[in-house]
Amino acid sequence: MDQYPKDIFTENDDIDPYTLDNLGPLSGMAGVWRAFGGEDIAPKADGPDKSIFSERFELQPIDPQSNGPQLFYGLRYHQQVLKRGENGLFHDQIGYWLWEPATDTVIMTLSIPRGQTAMAIGKAKPDAKTFQLTARRGETVNGVCSNPFLEHAFRTEEFRIDITKHDDGSWSYDQTTFLKVLGQDALFEHRDHNRLKLIAKAKPNRAALKADAEKKRLAKKASRESVDA
Ligand code: HEM
Repeated sequence: MDQYPKDIFTENDDIDPYTLDNLGPLSGMAGVWRAFGGEDIAPKADGPDKSIFSERFELQPIDPQSNGPQLFYGLRYHQQVLKRGENGLFHDQIGYWLWEPATDTVIMTLSIPRGQTAMAIGKAKPDAKTFQLTARRGETVNGVCSNPFLEHAFRTEEFRIDITKHDDGSWSYDQTTFLKVLGQDALFEHRDHNRLKLIAKAKPNRAALKADAEKKRLAKKASRESVDA
């Protein structure tokens, strides 16, 4: 593991508190987003079932995160999906999007209340407009963890997500969860895609607010000192 420093404890001393300015390929994805006309293909007893859905997708900046010398900037998200014509939540997902500038790596963690969690990883340049992340069952780094019933009946072999950032400021995802459904030979491609439009800007992260307050305090102090002088 030559790519990592020998000193695994000392933190980076050059951390910018302003997460929104340091999101690399995730830039422009923070905020509250809304979308209609999403499409879902899901497994049902009598075959693939297609649904149209709307969603609210909120991504808010978190403070920079260190693991010793490793540094991430990122977003905490909550995706809430409603099926057209229905009231109850159709899909509910939470997690983090993380960007590691030192290695051009993007990580997405996901948890869903089916009793399932995964971590998808991919490479992207800071100015990338498209990128792909994957998670695979059995991997210890970008893996998938499912509850025993899902492992038995709807085993997730792979999760893949493609992100595209558009020139008008919207962004879209196209994701496929490859499922081994009990009794079926071919893998089932459980696919979801949608394009999101911004409805509210992101709120600055705590460390950014604190840095702003400190700047204000220092400016006030400097102006008081210049009056006294
Ligand atoms: C917009 C995103 C998604 C939507 C709208 C959605 C919707 C659905 C629907 C309608 C089903 C059929 C079963 C049911 O009606 O409860 C289903 C099944 C399933 N989904 Fe998703 N899903 C989404 C994303 C995901 C993701 C990201 C994963 C995991 C990585 C996942 C894992 C599964 C699994 C394992 C099943 C099989 C369990 C079953 O059929 O009861 N889904 N999903």
